[in-house]
Amino acid sequence: MEAITEEKESNESVEKLEVNCIKVFKAKHGTIFLGDCLKAMQQLPDNSVTLAFTSPPYLNAINYEEHIEKLQGKKERWERKEVSYNEYRDFLIERFKELIRVIKPGGYNIVNISPVGWNGNRVALPFHFVSWMESIGWKFREDIIWEKPVAKDRRSGVLLQHPYPGYYYPSLVSEYVFVFQKPAEKENQENIYWFRTPEEKERNKIDLKNYQGEMSKNVWKIRQVAPQENIHPCAFPTELAARVVNFYSYKNDIVMDIFAGSGQTLLAAQMLGRKFIGMDTQKEYVDYALNKIKNVEGQQKLCG
Ligand SMILES: C[S@@+](CC[C@H](N)C(=O)[O-])C[C@H]1O[C@@H](n2cnc3c(N)ncnc32)[C@H](O)[C@@H]1O
Repeated sequence: MEAITEEKESNESVEKLEVNCIKVFKAKHGTIFLGDCLKAMQQLPDNSVTLAFTSPPYLNAINYEEHIEKLQGKKERWERKEVSYNEYRDFLIERFKELIRVIKPGGYNIVNISPVGWNGNRVALPFHFVSWMESIGWKFREDIIWEKPVAKDRRSGVLLQHPYPGYYYPSLVSEYVFVFQKPAEKENQENIYWFRTPEEKERNKIDLKNYQGEMSKNVWKIRQVAPQENIHPCAFPTELAARVVNFYSYKNDIVMDIFAGSGQTLLAAQMLGRKFIGMDTQKEYVDYALNKIKNVEGQQKLCG
């Protein structure tokens, strides 16, 4: 981060900088890079981030540039992009390879992902994704299912119209949350979760009041974000990010989202006293995230 030197400008709480042609927005407790996360991560030192949580873009399904133009009233609808599955695989592998350099040994990389439609087929992306991650050095640790109470699709209606075998298409109410860990080379000394002081552990004790119900199992029932609650077409709930941040990081640790979108991970990090780094290619999402973080910061100040 020493490389940040050029074009300094500030307003009341967010400082804008430019590093190697990437715009950087610095808030009080964190930074958001506007640009490709591959380039943005290249600005970060090795072994510097404790936890990453993200949901990657489905490059063929959502055209984020055009979604923004639709938001701005410049377009009626947005069109899908032509991206092959192999190109998509390479895009993800390249970025998660850079991420493993940046994450501390023993640190976690948690990814929310689900099967996706590709050329008319339902593709088992999460299962391919696990083997891609393992091939570049991530250790698979947990599979959590995020269960949403309401289905957005009408797939199950097919069987109502054709009540015969072969017409079963269940409505989709789940996504995966996969937990990967960066191996710690000299395990006894390097794993960042094993060597916290007793005082630090005490300060970060997890409140177990609501733990014994569904939170203790690997199916988390959390309501999805309604379209009127967020400008992003596929924001995940802050509650999902807050659980991840709470279970896998300590206060003041750096939590990073390389495809941050509307900044739900960053917001959860801010609310829970962590530092954050976000990255996204769309200025509108970055501005939206910064605004939400600023509001939470304001409320936190008011509550002391
Ligand atoms: C699935 S969305 C993330 C939504 C986010 N979890 C939230 O709650 O708002 C993926 C995001 O990745 C961004 N994106 C696409 N390509 C990118 C890249 N190369 N580097 C960084 N961000 C990218 C898109 O603009 C989009 O906002």
